[in-house]
Amino acid sequence: EVYDPSRNTPSGVINYVRENLSAVKNLAGYLLPGDLKSLAELAPGQGGVLRDGLRKIAACRDMAGKLYLNSAVCTHSGCEVAWNSTEQCWDCCCHGSHFAPDGIVLNGPAVGRLNPVDAPAGGT
Ligand code: FES
Repeated sequence: EVYDPSRNTPSGVINYVRENLSAVKNLAGYLLPGDLKSLAELAPGQGGVLRDGLRKIAACRDMAGKLYLNSAVCTHSGCEVAWNSTEQCWDCCCHGSHFAPDGIVLNGPAVGRLNPVDAPAGGT
């Protein structure tokens, strides 16, 4: 019985609900404003999510000041990434993928890079 994959325990049901609420909460982030009001706020080594109409842009500058713009949608299952200022990378809190400032995958489960996007209307 203990190894039956279809067994239901009270703690298992609570964990299932908690994990799914976490995913719903993360996906609700698409309805919220971004961290940044404009790209002009970004100093070298900083990053954040900028809302541009219906899309969200993961924007960051490397230490040399080069600007990188990618979709803030994780290519694994679609959660929103967040800037990790300590490690200078993008983190996805849903399943732990990490992306370099230019959007390249550093750690999975995501296998595809963040999708590059054009600058928002109004420029950089
Ligand atoms: S949705 Fe980003 S790692 Fe799964």
